[in-house]
Amino acid sequence: MRSPVLGAAALFAVVVLSLATASHGALQYGFYKGKCGTKDVETIIQGVVRQRFFSDTKIVAALLRMQFHDCFVRGCDASILLDGPSTEKTALPNFSVFGYDLIDRAKAAVEAACPGVVSCADIIIAATRDAVALAGGLKYQVQLGRRDGMISQASLVNLPAPTITVPQSIQTFRAKGLSTSDMVLLLGGHTVGITRCSVIKDRLYNFRGTGKPDPTLNPNFLQLLRSFACPKIGGDNNMVFLDDPSSSLKVDNSFYKQLLQNKGVLQIDQALALDPATKPIVQQLAANPTQFLTQFNQAMVKLGAVQVLTGTQGQIRKNCRRTN
Ligand code: HEM
Repeated sequence: MRSPVLGAAALFAVVVLSLATASHGALQYGFYKGKCGTKDVETIIQGVVRQRFFSDTKIVAALLRMQFHDCFVRGCDASILLDGPSTEKTALPNFSVFGYDLIDRAKAAVEAACPGVVSCADIIIAATRDAVALAGGLKYQVQLGRRDGMISQASLVNLPAPTITVPQSIQTFRAKGLSTSDMVLLLGGHTVGITRCSVIKDRLYNFRGTGKPDPTLNPNFLQLLRSFACPKIGGDNNMVFLDDPSSSLKVDNSFYKQLLQNKGVLQIDQALALDPATKPIVQQLAANPTQFLTQFNQAMVKLGAVQVLTGTQGQIRKNCRRTN
């Protein structure tokens, strides 16, 4: 006869397991296996990303930022891709987001293989994973099975500004189900990419209206930024690397090392190395390159699961720029 204790334990295990599955929605590893004839959807997307990467490494930064900006506004539903007079992509924080053409190309490639099967939301996630791996990161498995959203409004774009404080940022990430560690890891996306002089000018010349620079900036670094990248007058569109220029095309932990030397370019980046809630995490990631690579990937997977549409929700767009 079956023991009631074992029976209860088995039931408990089933409940816990289904709760664990539910917390990730219906996303699955290998979701498209067998759904596109004999073709492998993830390999098709990877081919498109590889081709672009070898002619334009900026695509890595573009995709990382696109995933963040998509997932933080109504979840990872490709709402950022929709064209229109007042869609998300017309909102100020998205002006400098690019790479939409890469997504179009990947979508065309998967549609040619199996029409109406692969969502645009999944393409963003898989393409970003591929780009990270090409730029020195580790290749990670992504859960797929997202569906595309039908709503995209500029007025709903409420992304954090670079002047956000650490406690505010912790709150913002927590509201999306992401921990403080996830936040510090995800801001590690700034290991690649650039900002423009206009974004940091106040830090260099008139921090919080003081007429002085941000006192947390390393003085030599401040001098360098002022002389070579960001003059007091003009140069607003000059590019400034978010990480050490020698490593700014590479996904690695040097970003955190920069922060420990007070060479964070964005105010929030530098603040991570100063706030007691995040400083120990920055120190650990700066000291452990492999830990950063592994945990960054895990955080990207968690970011990719924010408020997703699955099952019969939303739709699979035919064209990523339009709802069907
Ligand atoms: C508190 C959170 C964040 C803030 C305040 C923030 C802010 C910014 C700002 C102001 C820029 C410069 C944009 C420009 O000059 O046009 C930027 C660039 C960038 N951000 Fe973030 N970011 C945050 C989180 C993230 C996350 C979570 C990721 C990805 C995982 C990310 C990836 C990037 C990348 C790759 C760039 C460079 C884009 C390029 O080179 O074109 N950011 N971010």
